[in-house]
Amino acid sequence: MKRIRAYILALAAISLAACSNQPKVMENEAIQNIMTRVSVRAFTGEKISEAQLDTLLRAAMAAPSAINKQPWAFIVVTDEAKIAALGEALPYSRCGNKPAVAIIPCGDLGKAIPGEMADFWINDVSAATENLLLAAHAMGLGAVWTGLHPDMNRAKIVQNMLGLPEYIIPLCIVPVGVPAEQPEVKDKFKPENIHYNAW
Ligand SMILES: Cc1cc2nc3c(=O)[nH]c(=O)nc-3n(C[C@H](O)[C@H](O)[C@H](O)COP(=O)(O)O)c2cc1C
Repeated sequence: MKRIRAYILALAAISLAACSNQPKVMENEAIQNIMTRVSVRAFTGEKISEAQLDTLLRAAMAAPSAINKQPWAFIVVTDEAKIAALGEALPYSRCGNKPAVAIIPCGDLGKAIPGEMADFWINDVSAATENLLLAAHAMGLGAVWTGLHPDMNRAKIVQNMLGLPEYIIPLCIVPVGVPAEQPEVKDKFKPENIHYNAW
């Protein structure tokens, strides 16, 4: 099933490249994984294995970070009632759509660069989140980044619900699970976004 899905997604990416104004993307598994990732917002409710969860978290923590501070923490919500409660409180988080797990990448201000550069944590945790999304896709799972920070109302709801200390700032909620939908791959390549050597 996973192979068929990967094959269909690869075909979709190749035909997108053929139709669009971009040259054919390189035929490389990692590149294909990046080009075919889509946000998945509906899940079957099936569980994922411990090995899959471990791989997701290892992929997230493999991300680059400023001065290698790794100023992150990951709240892994596996409790069905808590996932459903997150979905109720924050409907746009898609936690009401039966994900197997909700992972909440957070900034740990205690580990962030002190002073003016502290906000680099946002870049670092964003890089970790993208790694998480790509790893989920590579494993045939679905996931979506749903935003919290800098909306402090949303972040506060999660802080209160999950008992996070003040210095742990939830960046987003990533529900992950077995996909119950196959959204189309989008072609976002726009040559006008590129500027060589100067604006
Ligand atoms: C910072 C950020 C916040 C987002 N917030 C939400 C959200 O609250 N709910 C949601 O369903 N999707 C959310 N998304 C997913 C975007 O809607 C999605 O990435 C975008 O439409 C492009 O689609 P794609 O991921 O399938 O390429 C968010 C993505 C980012 C990067």
